[in-house]
Amino acid sequence: MTHPKMTMRPQAAIIMAAGRGTRMRSQLSKILHPVAGIPIIERVVRVALKAGLHKIVVVLGHQSEEIQSHLQAQFPDQDLCWAIQEEQLGTAHAVQCAEEALNGFTGDLWILSGDVPTLDCATFEALQHTGGSAPLVVAGMRLEEPKSYGRLLSDSQGLFAIREARDCSSQELMVKEVNAGFYRVDCQLLFEGLRSLKSDNAQGEYYLTDLIAYTRTQMELASAQHWIACHIFEGEKAKALEGVNDRADLAQAEARAQSLLVERFMQEGVTFINPRQVTLHEDLVIAEDTVIEPGVMLLGKTKIAAGCYLESGARLESTEIGEGTRIGQGSILIQSRVEANTKILPYCHLQSAHIGTEVNLGPFARLREGTILESGCKIGNFVETKKAHFAPGSKASHLSYLGDVHVGAKANIGAGTITCNYDGYHKYQTQIGAGAFIGSDTQLVAPVSIGEGAFVAAGSTVTRDVSAHALVLTRTEQTERPEWAQRFHQAKCAQKSES
Ligand code: UD1
Ligand code: MG
Repeated sequence: MTHPKMTMRPQAAIIMAAGRGTRMRSQLSKILHPVAGIPIIERVVRVALKAGLHKIVVVLGHQSEEIQSHLQAQFPDQDLCWAIQEEQLGTAHAVQCAEEALNGFTGDLWILSGDVPTLDCATFEALQHTGGSAPLVVAGMRLEEPKSYGRLLSDSQGLFAIREARDCSSQELMVKEVNAGFYRVDCQLLFEGLRSLKSDNAQGEYYLTDLIAYTRTQMELASAQHWIACHIFEGEKAKALEGVNDRADLAQAEARAQSLLVERFMQEGVTFINPRQVTLHEDLVIAEDTVIEPGVMLLGKTKIAAGCYLESGARLESTEIGEGTRIGQGSILIQSRVEANTKILPYCHLQSAHIGTEVNLGPFARLREGTILESGCKIGNFVETKKAHFAPGSKASHLSYLGDVHVGAKANIGAGTITCNYDGYHKYQTQIGAGAFIGSDTQLVAPVSIGEGAFVAAGSTVTRDVSAHALVLTRTEQTERPEWAQRFHQAKCAQKSES
């Protein structure tokens, strides 16, 4: 066999992703477990795409439908190819299953493991520049704890075999240079080699790693040299290539992904008071001069503008925060949008809410779906809102339920106001005009409308529309009985001393 010199960067990759991931002990496929919010397999595909590969064959087996539909949804514009490995007979067999989908592709290709969440483009670069024309290039890691990784066995001529830990002698187990499961290989060598591999090992599987011993034999038969090259990654770069096989690996991968993210944002001008005590997702945007206290979680596609301050325990999911905004301790914001210079005091809960500029919110406010607060509004403690639109400068400072309501500009809603929006069957709207004043402990029985500038006296139950600028009063008129209380107490005391 002869091997032409490959100078071009390989354009195709096989990603092995059919395994069951038994060691995770999970109902969910191992590679669908998220790291920094992104399923492991999606992270691998992202890197492959970022590395500019044109043809990517994903080998699926266990939970193939779930994985395929997830990847199709995430990469709708990419022409990913699929191969099915019905029975998971080992990594060599997985690659064999991809041969047809490669559709006659020749030359070098990459083989990646679908369980390496912190793989990066630099690994492709390094392997591209290793081994010159060698038809097989292996990525290795030097690890202090080589765990169950395949050991790289070398002699004076270089790598001659990869031995899986279970098949190693005790001496071989001491080898700290291990297989990362990432290869650049010539297609012809690969598929010829795979056809000759056997499964006579501890697991009874077809090991892709046996391709190394096969290639070495072929090289010796051809009296050739340098058919196998190896790039050994060390330190942090080696750790980045570690696969996830169990929950402990998953936790380590998460920690690595977190520190990479924190590093990136610090370089972009974000301050973390304690960088190891935050949880970040991969697709965040955080602008400079934002300060993040410990215990903050920024998830999904959250976007934070410059100069914000996030107090400890704030949790933001797919939420957008405008410049100069402060998010109080323990506040939870889900799929919401907050514009510039707003202040959210501690322990607010926002779901699908849109908050304008310079709003004051909380503490302990609950803004449910469809809440819109325009600029300069104030929503205070123990106020619950739902489908509530507050025009600029309107206020509800304490203890209210405001649902299915439109509140006009600068209206003031007193403590204990309730929009009675539900009769057990349907929901009804309340309209509160601009500048209206709703006294404390008022029930607005919807559908009802309070005219502009109207004044609702405290303790009213409003069941009919109120005209603009009117006063409405629904409580009974106050009466007074002079000295009644004194007489009452005297009578009661006398009764008590008699008995
Ligand atoms: C594999 C390597 C090992 C290497 C390690 C690096 C083999 C035999 N061993 O071991 O030398 O140190 O990766 O992380 O290759 N898969 C399939 N079909 C199968 C079996 C596995 O598609 O039949 C996929 C898995 O989904 C996974 C990848 O191949 O994404 C690796 O399989 P895994 O079982 O994790 O192999 P390791 O034991 O980690
Ligand atoms: Mg693995």
